[in-house]
Amino acid sequence: MTKVIRVNPDNFNTDELDEAAKILQDGGLCAFPTETVYGLGAVYSDKNAVLNIFKAKGRPADNPLIVHICEFNEIYSLAKEVTDEAMRLAKRFWGGPLTVILPKSDSVPYEVTAGLDTVAIRLPSHPVATALIRRVGLPIAAPSANLSGKPSPTAAEHVIEDMDGRADIIIDGGNSFFGIESTVVDLSTDKPQVLRPGAVTIEDLKPFLKNIEYGTGTSAPKSPGMKYKHYAPNAPVYIVEGGNAIGIINKNSDDKTGILTYRIPPDKFERGTVLNAGNTAYEYAANMFYYFRKFDEMGVDKIFAVPPEEDNMGYSVRNRLYKSAGGRIIC
Ligand code: TXA
Ligand code: MG
Repeated sequence: MTKVIRVNPDNFNTDELDEAAKILQDGGLCAFPTETVYGLGAVYSDKNAVLNIFKAKGRPADNPLIVHICEFNEIYSLAKEVTDEAMRLAKRFWGGPLTVILPKSDSVPYEVTAGLDTVAIRLPSHPVATALIRRVGLPIAAPSANLSGKPSPTAAEHVIEDMDGRADIIIDGGNSFFGIESTVVDLSTDKPQVLRPGAVTIEDLKPFLKNIEYGTGTSAPKSPGMKYKHYAPNAPVYIVEGGNAIGIINKNSDDKTGILTYRIPPDKFERGTVLNAGNTAYEYAANMFYYFRKFDEMGVDKIFAVPPEEDNMGYSVRNRLYKSAGGRIIC
């Protein structure tokens, strides 16, 4: 069994992180909380430890990892070149849910970047994450702490579900604030692109990057991770679009149906187990993966999800929902 330590993000001593830091320094894997989702970390320069992350997750070898830092200046040791654009974004959005892609320096092993000449860098805002990185004294490479293909974990119980016996230590720092993974922005090419939408939205980015656009999506993914089956609970997810969601869901549901509702009162549904995603797209993001895993725990055999509108954070939530549903849409 993997050891789990509980650290209160609002009130902790950094020496509570000593054991986890030591495990990382010795080449082990540590699952830790961030403000987006939990990460499964290894010291970025330890090639063996980095390869063990891929094994622990069952992650395809061509899907690169994000390197997490705790001080802006660490970017200079990871990136070959730090552009003005990168400085502007970092100043505005770090620590926070934004990852930037830049040409990599020689210090970043190809094991981290899956053979690419670029590196993804993020400075989180979660106090436990940054304190851990500081205690280790080196950047930490970390994907989300789920088994590949599963919804990202937003609570320690879900990290334990996937990583017990696979990670060397798990830090329980409570629930993730945002609930979906960071926005990934590629700054390594002429035209900056959002490769993965997140809580920093394209509208948030436009004042800083006038020509920012969305990447090409899943057909020819620049962000290798976006092409795989993703975020999927065991039960199939069906997105129910349009004005007649109540009618469609009531017609097709039974006692073993899970319903993730949004702005439709739960009592409108005649059968099934209803969980309320909240009243805003930010609340939806914070609840979505957690509730998908809850539905699995309840043993539902299908999930109907009412999506948020497609603006701002709604766009990012829909991106994950569509991947979870793998194309199953009813309207
Ligand atoms: O919020 C987050 O970003 C979380 C927490 C733990 O920080 N991490 C996370 O990592 O979501 P992961 O590995 O699940 O997703 C990283 C994404 C993948 O889609 C990957 O393909 C992309 O970032 N990525 C990483 N390095 C890249 C690179 N050099 N070029 C393009 N895409 C890259
Ligand atoms: Mg992931």
